[in-house]
Amino acid sequence: MDCTFGGGGHAIEILKKMEAPGSLIALDRDVEAVDRGLSLEAEHPNLKVLHRNFTEVKDVAIEEGVVGKVNGILADLGTSMFQLKDPGRGFSFSTDGPLDMRMDTSTGLTAADILNSYEEEELIRIFRDYGEERYARRIAREVLARRKRSPYENTLAFARQIEDVYGGRRGRIHPATRCFQALRIAVNEELESLPHFLDSALEVLAQGGRMVVISFHSLEDRIVKNFFRDKSRNCICPPSQARCTCGGNNAQVQLLTRKVVRPSQWEVDRNPASRSSRLRAAEKLGVPS
Ligand SMILES: C[S@@+](CC[C@H](N)C(=O)[O-])C[C@H]1O[C@@H](n2cnc3c(N)ncnc32)[C@H](O)[C@@H]1O
Repeated sequence: MDCTFGGGGHAIEILKKMEAPGSLIALDRDVEAVDRGLSLEAEHPNLKVLHRNFTEVKDVAIEEGVVGKVNGILADLGTSMFQLKDPGRGFSFSTDGPLDMRMDTSTGLTAADILNSYEEEELIRIFRDYGEERYARRIAREVLARRKRSPYENTLAFARQIEDVYGGRRGRIHPATRCFQALRIAVNEELESLPHFLDSALEVLAQGGRMVVISFHSLEDRIVKNFFRDKSRNCICPPSQARCTCGGNNAQVQLLTRKVVRPSQWEVDRNPASRSSRLRAAEKLGVPS
């Protein structure tokens, strides 16, 4: 299962390596990604692309009759180049567009809705925690002042406002980068959906099946790292307990990546978007006898 189909780059490589009677179920919450996938289905009869959130991976596996039979699960988190480059989706501030940022445009609050309605403290939390924005408090205050005059609608108005807080555009990255990332994470509830996905994905994997997660944000990577670490522990007794009483045979996965895997310079030169990616993988163990 490729749970983040996007532009289908990974899916196509997986299909090339797959032998009959293997099949690939691909999910994406973005209807445009799914449309791209559907057009590939004719060429690849063993590909099935579905418009689903990866938090529903277990429901999908039940519907498809593959619970406990899936040999590989991939999640390549974040946004695709198709989403980033389309000004109409509102992820980027290089061209003006509606402040939307929803990966699934059929549901949920847009980035503009959040800027126009959230309390100051909640905006501060989003900019600070999801964006590591050092001027989170000041930017949130400016948002409240500005939205009283006119509600947010477009990307550039918000990007320019952040530029003003920074006193112009200095440095290598645009000053709005962190707040845009933070809003995107909030709009798509990215950090809330990840733990749910990881638990469900482990349930649908076959014994010996492998799970690979690529993340682009340190908070996401921490969730993946802790999940794999916890599931690879044999002893699940509380740390305060001196003697093990759990049986010490509880590991559900074996780590395939002891340390996080980062792209090589060779890869970054050819694919600059891979720069901040971090990959972790684990294999599901059998049930202890
Ligand atoms: C980085 S791109 C994937 C690129 C893909 N691996 C490729 O090779 O083209 C991430 C994709 O995951 C999708 N996505 C993000 N969160 C999702 C979720 N919770 N459920 C389903 N799809 C999601 C996005 O819509 C986007 O298309």
